[in-house]
Amino acid sequence: MEIIIQPTQQAATEVAARTIARLLCGKPNAVLGLATGSTPLLLYQTLIAMKLDWSHVTTFNLDEYIGLPRDHAQSYHSFMWNNLFKHVNIGKENVHIPDGNAQDIPGFCREYEEQISAAGGIDLQVLGIGTDGHIGFNEPSSSLASRTRIKTLTRQTCMDNARFFGSEESVPRHVITMGIGTIMEARQNLLLAFGQNKACAIAQAVEGPITSINPASILQMHPVVKVILDELAAGNLTRSDYYRWVYKSKPDWQSV
Ligand code: F6R
Repeated sequence: MEIIIQPTQQAATEVAARTIARLLCGKPNAVLGLATGSTPLLLYQTLIAMKLDWSHVTTFNLDEYIGLPRDHAQSYHSFMWNNLFKHVNIGKENVHIPDGNAQDIPGFCREYEEQISAAGGIDLQVLGIGTDGHIGFNEPSSSLASRTRIKTLTRQTCMDNARFFGSEESVPRHVITMGIGTIMEARQNLLLAFGQNKACAIAQAVEGPITSINPASILQMHPVVKVILDELAAGNLTRSDYYRWVYKSKPDWQSV
């Protein structure tokens, strides 16, 4: 794991944006895995401002609420089109977001996995982290080998996401999410976290034991992971001096 601590969310986001821009320049038909929520908002704004060529890019989103109309303001379809896709030259046919209104959800989930494989797998997966350690919507106790499927959100996640829906009761309880096994097959993972409310989950994910109780901790087993943090999210790490030292000591050819 490469732990990159930056003074602000903006500086951290720029590292993530440069990593993605470098990938798209070297591989214009890259397959990106994308996340929603507050964390990647600035990243998407930064990528839009970079005016990259998205015409050959394929995307797969991590998750979607079940039963929320696709055009609901808080659906992840709306989020992705409003905050990224409508501002870049991506082909509609290259965008994949789980369908939370599919008639046959298990069948849809199997197909989603097949579509990821048919696209050649995910080159780079963007991840946020829940305050309970979830990645995608793989909540604590999710199988570390899980594939795309239905999950039930924890009470904690419903409370965290109440800010988007006005009340905890209005947050859909069920979601479709890529599995942890699916995420672990991405060739590279970028985990972003900002703010003090992520500091505990990040410390457990990075420095704690690998456990399904903090699903993000499985990333310790992934060969290519950048964990990009602002100072607040890094606040509970015990080895932050070392992580800063490593980043500062990077040779030019390795730097982002
Ligand atoms: C969203 C997702 C979630 C969020 C996490 C953090 O697609 O997969 O894991 O990344 O819930 O959400 P924010 O960024 O709103 O704090």
